[in-house]
Amino acid sequence: MVCVLGIEGSANKIGVGIIRDGVVLSNPRATFHAPPGEGFRPTETAQHHRQQIVRLVGEAIREAGIQDPEKEIDGIAFTKGPGMGAPLQVGAIVARTLSLRWQKPIIPVNHCVGHIEMGRLITGADNPVVLYVSGGNTQVFLPNKRYRIFGETIDIAVGNCLDRFARVLKLPNAPSPGYNIEQLAKSGAKLFELPYTVKARMDVSLSGILSCIESRAPQLLESREYTPADLCFSLQETVFAMLIEITERAMAHTGSRELLIVGGVGCNLRLQVLEIVFLVKIRLKKLIFFNLSEFSKIFRFFQEFVKLSGWIVLLSIVPIVFSAITIILLCSSLLKVKKMIAICDGISASAHWLSRTAVRAGIGETARVTIQEYAGNKPELKRLLR
Ligand SMILES: [Fe+2]
Repeated sequence: MVCVLGIEGSANKIGVGIIRDGVVLSNPRATFHAPPGEGFRPTETAQHHRQQIVRLVGEAIREAGIQDPEKEIDGIAFTKGPGMGAPLQVGAIVARTLSLRWQKPIIPVNHCVGHIEMGRLITGADNPVVLYVSGGNTQVFLPNKRYRIFGETIDIAVGNCLDRFARVLKLPNAPSPGYNIEQLAKSGAKLFELPYTVKARMDVSLSGILSCIESRAPQLLESREYTPADLCFSLQETVFAMLIEITERAMAHTGSRELLIVGGVGCNLRLQVLEIVFLVKIRLKKLIFFNLSEFSKIFRFFQEFVKLSGWIVLLSIVPIVFSAITIILLCSSLLKVKKMIAICDGISASAHWLSRTAVRAGIGETARVTIQEYAGNKPELKRLLR
């Protein structure tokens, strides 16, 4: 059983996690919030991390139920980068200290690889296309085959774009500026047209969109043409549509049927819903095409069968028709016989006597007269002798 303690502090959040054989035992975190209208600065963020890190390490060990960390923990991992220098340094120094104190190997982890592998570990996704969207990164990956990048932002990250617009609207930074944009966008309805900048089919450019909405927002809000909610809605819809477009291309190219969204912006429910709708559309398309092709295959087979064996079918029908006619005739005969039996039942005794008399007397005049005389006394036989 391998047990690792990891420290992540590449931006305004600092967290310590303990994981044993793929099971997360604990993961306490603390976040630095800048005042509304401002972003977090490296120096202040690092100071926050320094104040929190010792408490978080102790909390993580307690929550995980570890009695003797020196014996139970096998390695110390930390985010090496990319990220903000000063906050990263805090995690690295604490990781190095614990590694030396407990005589455990130290494992530097690439920030982006950490996000992807964490997602794969938690979800069990085998070979997904990964959409990595956070404050510092916007990329579409295929993690197998050496983390191949299909598309990415050519300037700022999507999280950064949303956060900076939150500053324009003076939205609070707690719990996160992106979360407040998302909540405000829910009541937005009027779409302000922004540049749609998907580049070279796989990359996106977001800085121009931010410049556009930043420069237009004061006038649009002052004239009351658009509300802050409308602008949040417009920004979200535009940038998310671009992300879905490049994700769709990556999935079509790789043939992957799994999509993993990682990074802070991945928490945005609107992005998740749009991605789910897109995936359902793909599945439905596949389902319909599959069914149509299967149906056409069956139909073609049936057509060929009819063409090739038409004469066999015809010959098979002939005996069936004859059999049917025979059955009809037989049934009608039986009906007649029944009728005859019914007539004979009434005259059975007399008929029997008549037949015997005819045989004995011959069919001469004498016999006929005898029969007629006899029948004259029996009204039911008159009908037969006419
Ligand atoms: Fe991150």
